[in-house]
Amino acid sequence: MIQTAPAAFSVSADLKAAYQRDGFVHVPNIINREEAIGFRAAAVVATERLGAISDNAMFRQSVNVWREDAAMARLTQHHNIAAAAEQLAGVALRLWHDQILIKPAQNSKPTEFHQDQPYWPHTQSTHPISAWIALVDVPVERGCMTFIPSAQGRTELPPTSLSAQQGFFDVAPDLIWSPRVTVPLRAGDCTFHHGRCPHMATPNFTDQARVAHVVIFVDEATIYTGARHVVTDPLGLEAGASLDGELFPRARTFIG
Ligand code: SIN
Ligand code: NI
Repeated sequence: MIQTAPAAFSVSADLKAAYQRDGFVHVPNIINREEAIGFRAAAVVATERLGAISDNAMFRQSVNVWREDAAMARLTQHHNIAAAAEQLAGVALRLWHDQILIKPAQNSKPTEFHQDQPYWPHTQSTHPISAWIALVDVPVERGCMTFIPSAQGRTELPPTSLSAQQGFFDVAPDLIWSPRVTVPLRAGDCTFHHGRCPHMATPNFTDQARVAHVVIFVDEATIYTGARHVVTDPLGLEAGASLDGELFPRARTFIG
């Protein structure tokens, strides 16, 4: 039997326009449900084996799993995710890092509103984009994402606490009055959001853990600022260095 290469994933013009306008978009079935179920099991095993950099009431967070876990590397390097991210961002991207985020069953706390990019030691990255992939069904009650549309142009805001309910709105009080969009996902669906799109995740009130995998890309031309970050601290990079090399691979190397 002749094996054919998988068709390149293609994002519709409507989805691209929605991403450019809103700063986030929902892409159903970025992987299929069976794949998601397999990656859910792999994510739980990887988190147990590798441990978590944060383990609090909001989530267990394991970072840069792809470097340590061959099974999860297949998801982080999935050609559909890289292809969709580059099409939505409209520029060449490289991997910044991935993370498994597990919200435990029952009474977990919300992940409060924030933007992602202020946490990162980057300049010359104007198109950062994160794929948040549901590895279980994530109804609103299990800890899904909520976004503030069309606020990704707010590039002046500082980092805010993930656990402080008012933290983000203390620095952006006008956005209290913006509409919010809450996006429940089926296993295998994902959302993509811009690194400056304000977002939060609801608590998990259900009896099942919420398992999500997040793959974060930044512009290929991103420069390291020298600020502290768990991903770059061990690398001994000089401020002003390019984020290149095999630790930050180009998205196009995943697309084939
Ligand atoms: C979460 O899943 O709890 C938060 C994810 C994010 O902030 O990107
Ligand atoms: Ni975030």
